[in-house]
Amino acid sequence: MCGIFGIITNQDIEIGKLALEGIKRLEYRGYDSCGIVSQHEGKLHVKKDAGKINAINKKLGLDDLPGKIALAHTRWATHGAPTKINSHPHFDCSEKIAVVHNGIIENFLELKERLISKGHVFKSDTDTEVIPHLIEEYEKRGLNFQEAVFEALRQCEGGYGAAICHADCPDKIIVVRKESPLVIGIEDGKTTYCASDIPAFLPHTRKHYVLGDDELAVLRPGEVDFYDIKTKTLIEKSPKTIDWSVDAAEKGGYDHFMLKEIFEQPQALKRTLSIPLESLRSFAESLITAKTIYITAAGTSFYASLAGKFIISKFLGIHIQEIECSEFQTQLSDCLEKNSVIIALSQSGETIDTIEAIRWAKESADATILSITNVVGSSITRYSDHTIITRAGPEIGVAATKTYTAQVLTLAMIGLEIARIKNLESSEDIKSYKKALNEVPNIIEKFLNHNIEHIKKIMKGLEKIKFKKIKKLGNKDLGKKLNNKHNFFFLARGISIATAKEGGLKMKEVACRFIEGYSAAHAKHGPISLVRGGFPIIFIAPPDDTYTRLIGNVAEFKARGGKIISLVVESDETISEMSDITIRIPQPADRFHNLFSPITFIPALQLLAYYAALDAHLDPDQPRNLAKTVTVH
Ligand code: G6P
Repeated sequence: MCGIFGIITNQDIEIGKLALEGIKRLEYRGYDSCGIVSQHEGKLHVKKDAGKINAINKKLGLDDLPGKIALAHTRWATHGAPTKINSHPHFDCSEKIAVVHNGIIENFLELKERLISKGHVFKSDTDTEVIPHLIEEYEKRGLNFQEAVFEALRQCEGGYGAAICHADCPDKIIVVRKESPLVIGIEDGKTTYCASDIPAFLPHTRKHYVLGDDELAVLRPGEVDFYDIKTKTLIEKSPKTIDWSVDAAEKGGYDHFMLKEIFEQPQALKRTLSIPLESLRSFAESLITAKTIYITAAGTSFYASLAGKFIISKFLGIHIQEIECSEFQTQLSDCLEKNSVIIALSQSGETIDTIEAIRWAKESADATILSITNVVGSSITRYSDHTIITRAGPEIGVAATKTYTAQVLTLAMIGLEIARIKNLESSEDIKSYKKALNEVPNIIEKFLNHNIEHIKKIMKGLEKIKFKKIKKLGNKDLGKKLNNKHNFFFLARGISIATAKEGGLKMKEVACRFIEGYSAAHAKHGPISLVRGGFPIIFIAPPDDTYTRLIGNVAEFKARGGKIISLVVESDETISEMSDITIRIPQPADRFHNLFSPITFIPALQLLAYYAALDAHLDPDQPRNLAKTVTVH
């Protein structure tokens, strides 16, 4: 949801080039317009336009800007269409103060009216533009740059992560934060960076600070001071070091981050498996003593919660109610029990609806908040009683892949810790579940190593082939056929409904296809009416307790002319025999492995979505209208 980047240095470096590289690494946060401003010899130099960064750079040469200070922005439009005039940075009347902003100033209309009545002239439709004008207004009243920023921000309601520079102040950038994320990177004595996310400055430094809510930082070359916006007093902060590697935030030879991140899953999950036992235990103990448990999240994280709650409930013996974060308060406003336990999932840790749900639950019912996120120091961690970091490494592709499997794996590990503490399963069983869980990364690795061509072909050219012949010809070219169809389903039962839904979401996100993940049993109450000759249905069919009934569902769809594509285990016979095409997941067919099939089966659907996007000539890393982190309601 907009990416901001800032740099101030005393080194002889190409400031525009660095700023450009910085926002490129944040492009996953929004990509409908961008801009860079630099400060040099008492003047601000700006280049901005609507469109994607590479195209604008080609047109305007964003990397060619003078000075030792630069601010950059990549936008996901909220207030005001994605046009040149609405793209950031925004300025005051004298064009001496430049602001890049992520978030929403909720009372901007009221502020704008007040400023207009004082003679300020606005150029854009954005909420952001009130910030430089407010600062200008306070400077007119005799305050210096920093004091004026303090006062301006006190007038602003809503959320902001913003960076501000001034034509007359060559020695500083001021950054402020309320709700929207902002991190500061330091190369001691040389250069200071600010950004919406750490990967933006990861090639330069791992040493960073997380700016807290209602905090202001003054950035100087290789130095930073922190202040409380409300009291204007200095705050002490200790830097942290991130252990992410630079390569993790680069494409590394892959065409897209999405593909790279799908392939990173085995390694990411091995790291997730090393989450310390104490963290799992504190979650497990809170859940064991809880009377009422909810799980909440958005998007892919919500589907991870569907799979994970299934595993945890099995060992806990308590139903866990899932509620989408945006509905959380509405649905529970009159009935959230005191001391409920809330599990909140968010890869970014910044999704505003998730944060609001847990904040409300804490304030109104003194709920215990257990959060699972991939980002150390993210907002969600501040509102949580316990946090587990999933260790998937930075995820740049807008569509979540490795963070999804890491989330489900984390929830599964908590489930097993509950089983161990409660001594629910015989210890032999627990050992077998643990063994199966530890094998998950290898199963995925084996699948990815041996099936990529198969999946690619599935998504490549089926349209050229008459469906009847597919079985004979192998799975070649299924993909285009799928692409050629307007609709198809992912169907499943039990725990695999989460896989079906997440597979459907991936297709919607990156291939812009309305592919629905649905319960195979429930699909006969309506959706089956869509089925006609050749209508493709992908069944997710691990051999768990639901398998026998799923056979019946496959038969129902086959009898109506549906073309059956199934995801099955290697040794599967029945459903694969009924299918026109099979994708085989190399995992044993026992109940221990089946429980973790939401993790081992999903890479196949991630790849299907990826290749469907390529076939539709879409960029899977930058899906239409989406942003990776949604920091507005
Ligand atoms: C956005 C992204 C989704 C993501 C969701 C939740 O909608 O486009 O890919 O699943 O936010 O994000 P979170 O960071 O809370 O997991």
